[in-house]
Amino acid sequence: MASVDIIGIRKLYGDVVALSDINISIASGAFYTLLGPSGCGKTTLLRTIAGFHEQNAGTIAVDGKAIEGLPAYRRDVGMVFQDYAIFPHISVRDNVAFGLKQRKIPRAEMEQRVAEVLDVVQLGQFADRMPHELSGGQQQRVGLARAIVIRPKVLLMDEPLSNLDARLRVDLRAELRRIQQELGITTIYVTHDQEEALAMSDTVCVMHQGVIQQAANPLDIYLHPANRFVATFVGANNFLAVTRQGDGLYLASAGGVVANGGLAADGRPLVCGVRPEVVRVVPGSVPPGDEEVAIPASLASVSFIGREMEVLVRTEADEVVKSFARPDPAVIALQPGSAVTLLVHRSDLAFFEDSETGRRAT
Ligand SMILES: Nc1ncnc2c1ncn2[C@@H]1O[C@H](COP(=O)(O)OP(=O)(O)OP(=O)(O)O)[C@@H](O)[C@H]1O
Ligand SMILES: [Mg+2]
Repeated sequence: MASVDIIGIRKLYGDVVALSDINISIASGAFYTLLGPSGCGKTTLLRTIAGFHEQNAGTIAVDGKAIEGLPAYRRDVGMVFQDYAIFPHISVRDNVAFGLKQRKIPRAEMEQRVAEVLDVVQLGQFADRMPHELSGGQQQRVGLARAIVIRPKVLLMDEPLSNLDARLRVDLRAELRRIQQELGITTIYVTHDQEEALAMSDTVCVMHQGVIQQAANPLDIYLHPANRFVATFVGANNFLAVTRQGDGLYLASAGGVVANGGLAADGRPLVCGVRPEVVRVVPGSVPPGDEEVAIPASLASVSFIGREMEVLVRTEADEVVKSFARPDPAVIALQPGSAVTLLVHRSDLAFFEDSETGRRAT
């Protein structure tokens, strides 16, 4: 167990800025996830921590001690890769024992530690199998066992579940979290799967183009995205045009003031973010209830997909808005083109500056 501090890390490949100015502080024992689209710098950051390459600027400290200059094998970090990276020609037991042999751990202790770790990852009965006799999920657990058997202070995992099928991914993510908590090992986890990140992490750090957009607990990331990029990348969102008149903000698609013009009072253009699950679609023309905004629209399509219906509508400002809601027979029966009303609670409207990484206006 160890805390990790990443201070002012910058990494270039030629003139490509892969990491801009990364500052992260991770508490001992935490599960910290780097989340972001392809190319945002997740793997680069993990490799910098592991010591596979050098940063151009900045410092990394484990338990307060800078680790620059230490070669990878002396950094006390375990790493699990996307493609398992286990040796195909030796047994599960020998794969797991590998790092201990390298470290010249005495035989009796080695056998005991391998057995313990195989138990933790629930592969005890597969110790004598060869990797090709295991499923993908089991192979990935060998990869994990191999990383944790050396008792690293920090565990780094780079998309460890992405080669597995959807069902197994869900099972194994719960398993990984259980093992991580059982061992209390500080973990930095990389994924581009937002659901995985929200389900597993103490802290989610959303990255974009080598820059941290927001680092917070999963609920805050979802409910209080710091900027438009986070609001778009994590969960689904609709963005509606906002106009400003005097002291009020209006939606282009709805009548009446929807918020106080004190938001971003310097007059920067804003957009309004609305999650699909807070948009209620009702047939016909309906007045708003208390604290609600009503947006007249016409139905584009309804898909009934079991536990919910997905409704697309077009507003009078020609914006397409998506709604996810409990199936409502009255809406499912509507023909495309029918008049509907969107009802949204005012407190569910979020305002952002109108650019890709525009900040939330508060
Ligand atoms: N060895 C390299 N040489 C030059 N550019 C590189 C190299 N490795 C990565 N890059 C560039 O650095 C940026 C960050 O890459 P990185 O592999 O860290 O992204 P990532 O977030 O892990 O993406 P993915 O989700 O696709 O794995 C990208 O623009 C990538 O093209
Ligand atoms: Mg990567």
